[in-house]
Amino acid sequence: MAPIDPHSYADSTHPLTTHISLSLYFDFASSTILSSAVLSLAAPYSGSFTLDSRSLLISDVLDLATLTPLPFTLQPTSPDAILGQSLTVTLSDHSQLLVIFKTAPSSSALQWLSPAQTFNKSFPFVYTQCQAIHARSVFPCQDTPAARIKYAAKLNIPRYLSAVMGAKHVGRRDPVPGECRDACDDSLWCGEGRVVEEFVMEQPIPPYLFAFAVGELGFREVGPRTKIYSEAVPGVLDAAAREFAGTEEMIKVGEGLFGPYEWERFDLLVLPPSFPYGGMENPRMVFLTPTVIKGDGTGAQVVAHELAHSWTGNLITNKTNDHFWLNEGITTYAERRIVEAVQGKERAVLNIGIGWKLLVEDMERFKDNMEFTKLKTNQQGVDPDDVYSRVPYEKGFQFLWRIERQIGRPAFDEFLKNYIATFKFQSIDTDIFLDFLKANIPGIENHIDLKVWTEGTGIPPDAMEPASDIYTKIVSLANEFKVGRMRNEDEVADWGGQEWELYLENLPKSVEVSQVLALDARYKLSESKDYEVKVAFLQLAIASRCSKYYSEVEKTLKEVGRMQYLRPLYKALVQGTGKEEEKIFAKRVFSEACSCYHPIAQGVVEAILIKYT
Ligand code: BES
Ligand code: ZN
Repeated sequence: MAPIDPHSYADSTHPLTTHISLSLYFDFASSTILSSAVLSLAAPYSGSFTLDSRSLLISDVLDLATLTPLPFTLQPTSPDAILGQSLTVTLSDHSQLLVIFKTAPSSSALQWLSPAQTFNKSFPFVYTQCQAIHARSVFPCQDTPAARIKYAAKLNIPRYLSAVMGAKHVGRRDPVPGECRDACDDSLWCGEGRVVEEFVMEQPIPPYLFAFAVGELGFREVGPRTKIYSEAVPGVLDAAAREFAGTEEMIKVGEGLFGPYEWERFDLLVLPPSFPYGGMENPRMVFLTPTVIKGDGTGAQVVAHELAHSWTGNLITNKTNDHFWLNEGITTYAERRIVEAVQGKERAVLNIGIGWKLLVEDMERFKDNMEFTKLKTNQQGVDPDDVYSRVPYEKGFQFLWRIERQIGRPAFDEFLKNYIATFKFQSIDTDIFLDFLKANIPGIENHIDLKVWTEGTGIPPDAMEPASDIYTKIVSLANEFKVGRMRNEDEVADWGGQEWELYLENLPKSVEVSQVLALDARYKLSESKDYEVKVAFLQLAIASRCSKYYSEVEKTLKEVGRMQYLRPLYKALVQGTGKEEEKIFAKRVFSEACSCYHPIAQGVVEAILIKYT
């Protein structure tokens, strides 16, 4: 037994799965999916063969040709809190196996929304979030990004709903008897009012990019390869179509910088407010939080980021989460190049500055756990959701920016294009990146300490805070606030959300209650429609013990489930001593709000509450 990934039971001596064929019967009444999966292996295998699973109810594993049962076991009996359970099947010269199983209502990847939790209040909704290691709670698989699979999926859903996937849509049609391969009875599969939506994914993807959503969906077309999907609410669809009107321009910029767009379509799905991330780069169908629709086009930055993953992350993938910076750091660099091309240098510099501040903050967060201030990490025994931070994003960005400064932009652009063309559709690690860097930029290691950057802790001395007129002005105005000065509203009238975000980030962690009140009286930050701004302000209010805003905090924690907002607000409430009232308040709000959070967000908030209360 030789693991290939600290987050998977997959064994390096076993063949990898190359294709999965799924039949999924969605039972909204019980929040479960009755399923079957045909796994095809790269080569026939005899002996114990291991897959990952979490909270799956496995009823049978069968020889696909003869439909005779194959012996299997689930280990450990009480599931590992991080890894789940290994499903071990005894094979004899098999290259295909059929697994019959059902998902649990508690599946960590799935959020089941009741009609009351949706916009239209009429129909239920369900969607996946498989990154980092949640695909195993939807179907058994070698749930490591070292594996790349193609797949086909038949989704059997109620006729009044529709489905999207991070895959090619083949069609919508009536169910056919015998096609579900024992996922459920044919009488159920072909029952009254059911329809099948069929998809194929012809490009091999790591399991964490598996994605679907089922609900009452509508769409608007905004470009030759882009539709925006969301719940069928005209107001939401129209606002999203306006916000993301510039998507095709960004795809073209991406192609100019990084090479051909390989995924054919670039559709966007705007999810309900409980979506736990800002965006998720599911191939062909990026998932987005509705909070990015701000009406001022800044939501395009998140789209630029997820689009950039089409090259860095989805084409070239980190082999394990230890090398997560290869996904997020390179993507953050690519995102800012796209932003610079479509929104100008000032905007890009502002983003770099916001990121710099977040990096400095996360270095502080990990001061007792410096492992996670490295680019190349050791995540053995660690839940990736628990150590999620801006370090891989911003330190990774800084590393690439440093190389760009060393060799100049034209040479760096050529390097990146070459890197992508060389490793596309492969899963790689930090050493492969470094070897390629040294081979293509001879002598680079004499100018940049590659070991310090990738294996060292903290911020390397040759990292750099950005500079521009606007950036410098905002930081100096934040410094003025510390000595009691605030500019008049008209001087900041042209500030957008990102300017405010940067300003608030540069204020002290806590101030006098009177200063919080004065800040809000002048700039109305607690009423901001931009959650980035509102949450940054509320965080300051909580840290300053300004209880006037606690009802607004409660409202915010109950209307959105994006972890980027939940984490800092709950932490601000419970971190530190002498905060008994805040701790009781946080626990009450969580107990009332948690059924509306995605299971991943529930787990992350619970971990914060356990750690600090
Ligand atoms: N792939 C990430 C989201 C993710 C990371 C999900 C790790 C699960 C585990 C996505 O591309 C991302 O980085 N989203 C950011 C967007 C931002 C950087 C523009 C987010 O959600 O905040
Ligand atoms: Zn990302």
